[in-house]
Amino acid sequence: MSDQHGFLAPAEAYDRHIGRYGPELAKQLIAAAGIEPGDHVLDVGCGPGALTGALVATTGRPELVAAVDPSPPFAAACAERLPGTDVRTGAAESLPFPDDTFDAALSQLVVNFMQDATAGVREMARVVKPGGAVVAAVWDYAGGMTLLRRFWDAAAAIDPSAAALDEGRTMRYCTPGELGRLFDGAGLPGAVIDSVIVTAWYDGYEDLWAPLEQGVGPSGAYVASLDADRRAALREELFRRLEVIDAPFMLDAQAFLATGHVPR
Ligand SMILES: C[S@@+](CC[C@H](N)C(=O)[O-])C[C@H]1O[C@@H](n2cnc3c(N)ncnc32)[C@H](O)[C@@H]1O
Repeated sequence: MSDQHGFLAPAEAYDRHIGRYGPELAKQLIAAAGIEPGDHVLDVGCGPGALTGALVATTGRPELVAAVDPSPPFAAACAERLPGTDVRTGAAESLPFPDDTFDAALSQLVVNFMQDATAGVREMARVVKPGGAVVAAVWDYAGGMTLLRRFWDAAAAIDPSAAALDEGRTMRYCTPGELGRLFDGAGLPGAVIDSVIVTAWYDGYEDLWAPLEQGVGPSGAYVASLDADRRAALREELFRRLEVIDAPFMLDAQAFLATGHVPR
């Protein structure tokens, strides 16, 4: 896999960047899917395992939880952190499971990174039993995902060419309408689209900035591409736009959630 999106970075850097929001968002996906103890479930695009871990806690049995991700370091971190789960290196577009295997398939912050999201969601539906849930979440990159919205606004302010990389413009499926159409086109008509807000705490501004320097995610990959002067300018501009003080603070992040059910 190429590292265009910064997903070959260390898992710990991901944990400190977007991973910080993962456990709270995972609870929302699990509630939307109606997962119960004993369910057999799949996490698609598991990363280092925020949703996978929440699924283990909900189902109560790691051996009932499977996960896939094309990033070898993320899949390895997920497997190491959650012994007994079935973690595989692979992509949504070709899931390594037979038809009708799972009670539900969930995907947290992934469909917008898939090469072919329609094929990915269709695969999720294929491996879920009739009547089971397929759930996907995507950030509201253009609006309510505070960290990334402020980041790309700050980047464009110091480097106009960064506007072309703004995830609010480049990412697909990050509006309720487009997310709903994705599910329709993948054989899950009538999916319910909700918006949810989650939060993350930071010890201070350095706690927010440090993982970006490690090149994680599209925003980190952009930081890593900058020379020292531009990096310092962006660091300052983002701090100003976040309107935080250099002490513990909290940020909100809005995501859209699609919940569909496999036709019986
Ligand atoms: C923003 S991260 C989300 C990780 C995890 N779900 C979470 O919530 O923390 C996006 C993940 O999607 C994975 N990914 C990218 N393309 C994928 C594809 N075609 N199929 C499955 N996962 C993919 C990346 O490797 C990365 O781990």
